Amino acid sequence: MLIKRSPNGIDLPFPSEITPRAVFESRRDFIRQLALGSIAGSALLEMANREAFAQTIGAAKLVAKPNPTYAVMEKKTAYKDATSYNNFYEFGTDKADPAMTAGSLRTSPWSISIEGEVKKPMRLDLDSLMKLAPLEERIYRLRCVEGWSMVIPWVGYSLSQLIKKVEPTGNARYIEFVTLDDKKQMPGLRSPVLEWPYVEGLRMDEANHPLSLLTFGMYGEVLPNQNGAPVRMILPWKYGFKSAKSIVKIRFVKEQPRTAWNLAAPNEYGFYSNVNPNVDHPRWSQATERRIGEDGLLARKRKTLMFNGYSEVASLYAGMDLKKFF
Ligand code: MTE
Repeated sequence: MLIKRSPNGIDLPFPSEITPRAVFESRRDFIRQLALGSIAGSALLEMANREAFAQTIGAAKLVAKPNPTYAVMEKKTAYKDATSYNNFYEFGTDKADPAMTAGSLRTSPWSISIEGEVKKPMRLDLDSLMKLAPLEERIYRLRCVEGWSMVIPWVGYSLSQLIKKVEPTGNARYIEFVTLDDKKQMPGLRSPVLEWPYVEGLRMDEANHPLSLLTFGMYGEVLPNQNGAPVRMILPWKYGFKSAKSIVKIRFVKEQPRTAWNLAAPNEYGFYSNVNPNVDHPRWSQATERRIGEDGLLARKRKTLMFNGYSEVASLYAGMDLKKFF
């Protein structure tokens, strides 16, 4: 196995070289159950323990110092839920599809091209990109436009750190994120459900807001493929679809980018897509949300908060009619 040195000095195998946690957990459980069922008990138990050991040394740790300024004090979503209930249409439209099919994504080698209105365009391999700034752990709420939310410890650094390095020109008013577009690795691209590649965008001041997180990991490990490995955005005050996964290109542009969901249904998904309980989706209310993991008949719905509770972004939109610019 190829071992790389992470920015924290921790030995870091590439994400693609590691058995996904869900796969090894179910394999281990299976072996344990067999063993406890007393068929050739001791040999199987030993096998289960060996599996556990192999995974301990194989897990792709990406531990970063927690940043208390950005830590939501709410119960974290279980890792299992956050990695098995996903939206990643390049791997299918069902929530369970990405965890099952994203194993075909090759995350090494990976590079990301920074282009457009910048004085220093560059192509960076993943390792160089990760070393550009110290990694932090931030616990963010993420609210999907479909009406559910999660609380996840992400690992990354503020996108502004990268923006500073490439020196945007005076023409750079927006920033565009482009996801990998490779049918061989992403079976969902054969379906015309969206215009591919998946593109998202931000205004420059939004991109420069310290909350905008260029993200490489979650729960102290590198991102699993289904969560957007090896690098994605996390924008906690916006609906989840603004947070593009598996990014290969970041472009600095003059005009507002044409984004995947806005192109697919412009009356339903605006460019801004700030979490806003006062602006309903044309087909459902946005006033409340279901926290993943709090299911069941008696589970209460939570009130959705303006900007998903991140009121510090409000000044970015001062004077804007947020019903018009939804
Ligand atoms: N990025 C790409 N490339 N393709 C997608 O389908 N789905 C978006 C966003 N990023 C999506 C994407 C949506 S709708 C959501 S809610 C979040 O990813 C889900 O992230 P998660 O699966 O890590 O919870």
